This record gives sequence, C-alpha cells and structure tokens, in this order.
Amino acid sequence: MMIQNDQSKIIPANYKVLISEEKIQSRLKELGEQIAAEFDGEKPILIGVLNGGFIFLADLIRFINIDLEIDFIRISSYGNERESTGHVKVLKPLSADITGRNVIVVEDIVDSGLSVKFLTNMMSAFSPKKLRFVTLLHKPTKTVVDVKIDYVGFEIEDKFVVGYGLDDEQIKRNLRNIYVIEE
Ligand code: IMP
Ligand code: MG
Repeated sequence: MMIQNDQSKIIPANYKVLISEEKIQSRLKELGEQIAAEFDGEKPILIGVLNGGFIFLADLIRFINIDLEIDFIRISSYGNERESTGHVKVLKPLSADITGRNVIVVEDIVDSGLSVKFLTNMMSAFSPKKLRFVTLLHKPTKTVVDVKIDYVGFEIEDKFVVGYGLDDEQIKRNLRNIYVIEE
C-alpha cells in the first residue's frame, strides 16, 4: 500500500484533474515494459530533462526492469511565460559521455517540439548508438517542428497543465495528479 497525504491545501479551486495519479502509474508500467523490452541487455542511459521531467524519470525507471544508468540535463526555453520563446539554452550540461551509448531522453511534455528538436541535434553530435525520446505528455496540435518521439504517455489537448513535475510559474510541481487550469 502507498502512503499518501491530502494535497487539497495546495490545489486551487480552478485546477481540474486531467490525469489521475493512478492513470499515470498504470501507463508508466506499460511504457516501462516496452522500454525494457527494447533495451534488454543494453544498459541504456536515461537522460532526464530538468526541471519538469524529474518526477516522471524517477517513477518510470522503477518500471524499467533492466539495468540502466541516469543523468540529467537542464534546458530552458520558457522563463516564467506560458508560451515558448523558441530560444533553447543549456543551463546544466550532461555529465555522462553518451558517445556509443543507448540514450533515452525523458521529457515531461512536448509542446512546440523546439526542445526535442534542440536536444536531438545536440545529442546526435555525440554519436550515441541509439537515441530515443520518451515524453509523458504530448500536445500534437501545438507541435510545429518535425520531431520523432518514440514513447508517448498521453496525448492531450492544447491546454496548460500542471503537477507531477510540471510547474505553474515554478510552483505546483509536487502535486500528484496532472491538472488543467480552468480560466
Ligand atoms: P516545447 O519546446 O515547446 O516543446 O516545450 C517543452 C517544454 O515547455 C516542456 O518541457 C515544459 O517544460 C514546458 N511546457 C510546455 N507546455 C507546458 C504545460 O502545459 N505546462 C507546463 N509546462 C509546459
Ligand atoms: Mg521541460
């Protein structure tokens, strides 16, 4: 049994549950099994994209039942705005050497696709053996650049979402469910 707390004190009235914690966990189990099947015996390195991807990475790896490594990269394209500026900067570079490695980049959400495109170009330059992308959420109607995402948790509509690692002006990352903010 999981031990849980009541988070209602930090959930504003205009937040509506879009994807419950139970739905997230059961989808992670499926994704974890698929990833384990693709990478069995290959000791992949999963690269969490900070900050939004940290909870997803932490939960996902516990459903990937093979040996693996982790690293993190931090990029920024948003500042505190809700719309992409299109400018991607590396705020914390990789620590690991990914040359010749099986690399799985773990994103919280793909919106315009600019971050994934930037990461694809950046990581390809190190000549990994395999380069795969997994994202918890994808907003297909917002994606303006051509990106290849290998594993998608949930496709969602074009609405701003919060919780489970995703922030609203840096807070609310600690909410267990994913919420949509109603105006
Ligand atoms: P992209 O480069 O436009 O695809 O943006 C990806 C990044 O924008 C994600 O990794 C998030 O950090 C952020 N982002 C996009 N949509 C949302 C959202 O609905 N809620 C919170 N963060 C978001
Ligand atoms: Mg992000």
